[in-house]
Amino acid sequence: MDKNKKAIIFDLDGVIVDTAKFHFLAWQNLAKKLGINFTAEDNEQLKGVSRVKSLQKILEWGNKEISEQEFKQLMHDKNEEYLTYVDQMTTSDILPKVKDTLDYLKVNNYPIALGSASKNAKRILKHVDLLTYFDAIVDGNEVTKAKPNPEVFLKAAELLKAQPKHAIVFEDSLSGIEAANTAQMLSIGIGDENILKEANYVFKDFEDMGLAKFKEILNE
Ligand code: BG6
Ligand code: MG
Repeated sequence: MDKNKKAIIFDLDGVIVDTAKFHFLAWQNLAKKLGINFTAEDNEQLKGVSRVKSLQKILEWGNKEISEQEFKQLMHDKNEEYLTYVDQMTTSDILPKVKDTLDYLKVNNYPIALGSASKNAKRILKHVDLLTYFDAIVDGNEVTKAKPNPEVFLKAAELLKAQPKHAIVFEDSLSGIEAANTAQMLSIGIGDENILKEANYVFKDFEDMGLAKFKEILNE
């Protein structure tokens, strides 16, 4: 493989698929049971945040203390509900132009990895029929340090046998952009430029980026 060829690392939730709405529904039902108010705005703050940390934050916001056993039970229940939504996902849940971007990379032999905090990553990729695009998958089951720690992306680059400076990361969360920047990778934010200001590039979505612009970035 060309040593200087860029390796491409994708976050999953919010980049490839819009699962934030499913996380929101499940967290909101959980918060309701606990008598905690939980809004869509609160949910924004949980993007890229692990399951454990998300529940800790919700409890903090609600000033609620619970036993370790109850914590585990709530995590389990939240995930069970989340999975009922995930299991209804199909290829129609892939965000616009993501498939075209992956096809372009595949046809041109770019190494592709997933770098996600989710422990459900493979299940989601299977549902949307994208699993075979990925040469490496690093998800919530393999990392010990959450974003903004760069561990997830460094592991992904290592599996692709790419140097960090030859890696490009697509991310929708600020913590993910920070992780990519700390890893010395080129960061591309997908979402709001006011939130993702620290990224090397920001686009609303893959359609906004366009293939021509992406080719330019790849050849830089
Ligand atoms: C991140 C999501 O990708 O994964 C977070 O942005 C989520 O919202 C985290 O909490 C963990 O996901 P999961 O599927 O393991 O609960
Ligand atoms: Mg994300």
